[in-house]
Amino acid sequence: MKILFIGDVVGQPGRKMIEQYVPKLKAKYKPNVVIVNGENAAGGKGITEKIYRRFLELGIHAVTLGNHTWDNREIFEFIDDAKVLIRPANFPDDVPGKGMVYVSVEGYEVAIINLQGRTFLPAIDCPFKKADELVAEASERTPIIFVDFHAEATSEKQAMGWYLDGRVSAVVGTHTHVQTADSRILPNGTAYITDVGMTGPYDGILGVEKEAVLRKFLTSLPVRFEVTSGRAQLNAVMIEVDVKTGKAKSIQRMLINDDHPYFE
Ligand SMILES: [Fe+2]
Repeated sequence: MKILFIGDVVGQPGRKMIEQYVPKLKAKYKPNVVIVNGENAAGGKGITEKIYRRFLELGIHAVTLGNHTWDNREIFEFIDDAKVLIRPANFPDDVPGKGMVYVSVEGYEVAIINLQGRTFLPAIDCPFKKADELVAEASERTPIIFVDFHAEATSEKQAMGWYLDGRVSAVVGTHTHVQTADSRILPNGTAYITDVGMTGPYDGILGVEKEAVLRKFLTSLPVRFEVTSGRAQLNAVMIEVDVKTGKAKSIQRMLINDDHPYFE
């Protein structure tokens, strides 16, 4: 079973890369499941129903979120009806949406979990305890369990990888928008990467207009961050999982940008 996970889609440049490359990547690598983090898909903040639906039309099986989940107000109108839209599971109880979904493909079920870190991010419920709860629940149904851990601190992401090693098929980090070169299979069979990287502008700062970010660093004055335009990139990982055991067999990083061109 091959799982393609595409890192944080940022604004229109990110969505264009999805339109352009998801069909190509599907044709070339034939992933069984495609998952995208879409928490920055609408102008860098949140996601709209139209974008979510378009992702599904392109053959994406599930969309994960993160700290920007609620930033586009439209979310409250459709999150409860969006069957494969997953927000961090460790948000406080009684908020809309869900933190885990099951996707059925070719006779197999894949549990997909979204969790959010608490280091340098809002103080929400414990992602480790929530992971225990959801992994126990999912394991009753399937050995194939995929975790998108949306977190700021490298240490917290590594900690989650080791914590879940052998209990889930993959722990992939999102949120910091720069792909890390530490993709590996942990000793008990969990595929891991600290951050998959982002899909969107290539010449900004984490997808944002670089002039605005520089102004912020140079003056500390309040500035408005906008998604920048120009050249774009796509960052992803392809993970191969043994369907019987749920253990990962390989994890491959993918970068598509002008410095790492895509070859058909
Ligand atoms: Fe984020």
